[in-house]
Amino acid sequence: MKIYNVITIFPEMIQSIFSWGVVSQGIKKGLLEINPVNLRDFTKDRHKTVDDYQYGGGQGLLLKPEPLCEAVRDIKQKFCNTRVILLDPRGEKFSQKTARRLLNYDNLTFICGRYEGVDERVRKLVVDEEISIGDFVLSGGELAASVIIDSVARLVPGVLGDEMSSEDESFCNGLLEYPHYTRPYEYEGLKVPDVLVSGNHKEINDWRIKESLKITLQNRPDLLKGKALNKETDEIVSQIVKRMNEGVSLYVALLHYPMVDKHGDVVATSITNMDLHDISRSCRTFGVKNYFVVNPLEAQREIARRVLTHWQEGYGATYNPNRKEAFEYTVIKESLSEVIDFIEQKEGCRPLLIATSAKDAPNRAKLEPFLKENYDKPMLILFGTGWGMSEDLMKLVDVIIEPIKGAGSFNHLSVRSAVAIYLNKINGLLGGNKDEQQAN
Ligand SMILES: C[S@@+](CC[C@H](N)C(=O)[O-])C[C@H]1O[C@@H](n2cnc3c(N)ncnc32)[C@H](O)[C@@H]1O
Repeated sequence: MKIYNVITIFPEMIQSIFSWGVVSQGIKKGLLEINPVNLRDFTKDRHKTVDDYQYGGGQGLLLKPEPLCEAVRDIKQKFCNTRVILLDPRGEKFSQKTARRLLNYDNLTFICGRYEGVDERVRKLVVDEEISIGDFVLSGGELAASVIIDSVARLVPGVLGDEMSSEDESFCNGLLEYPHYTRPYEYEGLKVPDVLVSGNHKEINDWRIKESLKITLQNRPDLLKGKALNKETDEIVSQIVKRMNEGVSLYVALLHYPMVDKHGDVVATSITNMDLHDISRSCRTFGVKNYFVVNPLEAQREIARRVLTHWQEGYGATYNPNRKEAFEYTVIKESLSEVIDFIEQKEGCRPLLIATSAKDAPNRAKLEPFLKENYDKPMLILFGTGWGMSEDLMKLVDVIIEPIKGAGSFNHLSVRSAVAIYLNKINGLLGGNKDEQQAN
């Protein structure tokens, strides 16, 4: 059995923290014992004084040395041996590695400072090591001791229901953990990644390794420095880093069918000259790989082709060469499925379909976390025309992104403006494609 003693002026605080959750279960199972020790029990005066003013002046009181040393000696007498830890911002920074090291001791004693801390002689006389839980100052050591006890106690065999679950967590293999999902399968428009419902254990495991590496690279690249990786993992890391440096593979499609009109009927809308020009210019500016103008009507596509040809090959090309450049990555397509095939051929995988809508709803995903999670996948952002995309179309997409919010209740941006604003936001969050656009 593991015994964790906590010397404190607030023993009830420790008692109450460990009356909950897995640690309390561990106590009930007899795997560990938490022993709060009231510092005041080791005072000799009537007032049970544990603190006093500092020599040399200065604000704040200190915990006196005598009760602390006597409390430690009392514990040592009872248990023969204990490892004494002083909680202190000066100490070694606590980590999962330290938690694993402390697991080797059967008896630990934590000294919780209060006020300005403890008399310096306590460290010299009874303390074996000092631990800080981070570069911040708490008002007492009780929370710090509880953090340490909690993370060590859950490593004690049998405390967690499933022996594997502590093996699997963040920091156990030196990395941050991969994302987890539970039911429902779809929540507020966000679905569980396909691979997790595939039943293919190898693919699930590969996905988890990749996500874990991705999250570590994004949030804590320091954890990977100097870490020995196997060949396969090293390759995944290089691919992720390459992707991160390249920027996101972004595509834009302006859809003209199936849209709804002002009566709510599903219709095909017309291509406008301004949408051709202005969205091409925005896409070129922000490094979008291709801008697709999608219309099922041949006559409409023919008009668009003529505009493009004028600016790319006709008089327009010499009149305004940078307009020619803007149209270089504009592609006219008949249907969304053609667009998806086109991207799949280029990228080797299906793009994530991201719908935009001016209407807010609970299932709208926040742009930043979505992009950060998916920056390594090609993305196709869909923009609608008319009164917006039909409901059936919305059901096909992977995510509907939150609308651009205006200053008040009026929110009727032109699709051209919406494209520019979204692209500017994405560029700020992830960076563009860095001159890797694809000539059509
Ligand atoms: C207000 S703090 C004293 C801070 C001290 N005067 C200093 O500046 O380092 C009171 C007590 O809280 C505990 N404490 C505060 N911050 C801590 C941290 N980051 N890690 C561990 N213990 C901490 C220590 O036991 C400390 O003696």
